[in-house]
Parts: sequence; structure tokens; C-alpha cells
Amino acid sequence: CLTPDLLHLHKLDNSIVVVADIFRATSCMVTGLAYGVKSITPVASVEECKFLQDKGYIAAAERDARKVEGFDLDNSPFSYMHESLIGAQIAMTTTNGTLSISKAKSSAVKVMIGAFLNLGALAEHLKTEPYDVVVLCAGWKGRPNLEDTLFTGALAEALKDEFMLLEDGTLMAQRLYQQSRDNLLASVSNSSHVRRLQRLGIQKDISYCLQTDLYDVVPVLRGGTLVSMN
Ligand code: MLT
Repeated sequence: CLTPDLLHLHKLDNSIVVVADIFRATSCMVTGLAYGVKSITPVASVEECKFLQDKGYIAAAERDARKVEGFDLDNSPFSYMHESLIGAQIAMTTTNGTLSISKAKSSAVKVMIGAFLNLGALAEHLKTEPYDVVVLCAGWKGRPNLEDTLFTGALAEALKDEFMLLEDGTLMAQRLYQQSRDNLLASVSNSSHVRRLQRLGIQKDISYCLQTDLYDVVPVLRGGTLVSMN
């Protein structure tokens, strides 16, 4: 599903939804859980995030790639590596990533989190599941984007011997990934969110988020909160 606006076209009652927001929400989630964060509660609105901050959560809020004033964390994966966050309960809202999770959670069998950073571990886990898999690309405000589509292609490539790839969107993503896999950084260089991040002076997050298999965490949504399965 290349944009959350088309999620209603997918049958989810026998599906795991893997949400991908490569730049940068799901890369932050994978990084945080890999570095020892206890849980991340994704919420759609800034107000819900503030509510959880007032209850004692460490709160991360991003809109239009910028940190929202009054919150503890921005949306850079490097902000999730601090020792002070080991064992922390984080509440998080982002422009597209957490909104996509909110859209998926009521109808999917399970919601899991994907990034290049945990691609192999996620693929291995999905092979053990009896369910269909829908990759939900967070995109940007209803539009598809290149990096989430490339991730979908990478996951499809990793699972091609296990699953029948039934959607043309999946085949498109897989073919795009096959063409780009040798230099992902170059292939996203002119994409809209890369240009947006660069305008804000955010450079190092881009190459970081494109690294494959840095971590073996597989985040899953349990009772509205993301925790690591392993
Ligand atoms: C989002 O959820 O839209 C993002 O992760 C945006 C960003 O901060 O790069």
C-alpha cells in the first residue's frame, strides 16, 4: 500500500501490516528499541502526545520534519541512542509515520514496524507468520514517496520465495528496488523528503536510515504500544 490514503482498499482481517516511514519515524522506532528503550507509544496527534508527556512519558513530537516546541525529543534516530533512554517509555507523534500506525491498528491482525535497519530480522520473523503481509508506506501527506517504496521492494525481495507477490504496487516496488539496491543513497538523492531534510540541514539521518540490517529488533504493537518481540 504505497500511501495510507489507499489503505481502505486492502483486506486486513488476515494481514499483518508492516508500517514503513524510512525518513524517519520507523527508523527512530527501530533504533530506540535496539538501544534499550522499553516501549514507544505512537499517537496521531500532538495533543495526545502532550497528554502522555503530562503523565510522565518522554515525549517526541515532529511536524514537517521539525521538533514541536515543548517536547523532549525530535525525530532524528540519533536522538534515540542516549543512555538516558534505556528503559524509558516514550510517546511519539510524527507527521506521517504514527498517523499510518493509527490508521492500521483497528483492522490489522498485527502491526509491525519496518525499516532498512531491521530488514533481515523482520523478514525472518514474517516467514514464521501464517498471515498475509501488507506493507503500509507512510509517504508524505497522502503522497507516495521513494524511500518507503524502496523499502517495500527490499522486503518483497527478501520474501519472494515465501509469499506470492499479489499486488502490482508490490511488483513495482520490487523492480524499483532491484534497479536501485547497489546505491540507495544516490537513488533517493532528488526525492522530496531528502530535499526537505537537506533544506533543514539534516544530512546524516539520510545515510543512517538507508543502512541495512544494523539491528535485529522486530517492533510489534501490543495494546497500543510498540515493544520489541525479541
Ligand atoms: C513523518 O512521520 O512524517 C516523518 O518521520 C518525518 C520526519 O521527521 O522526517
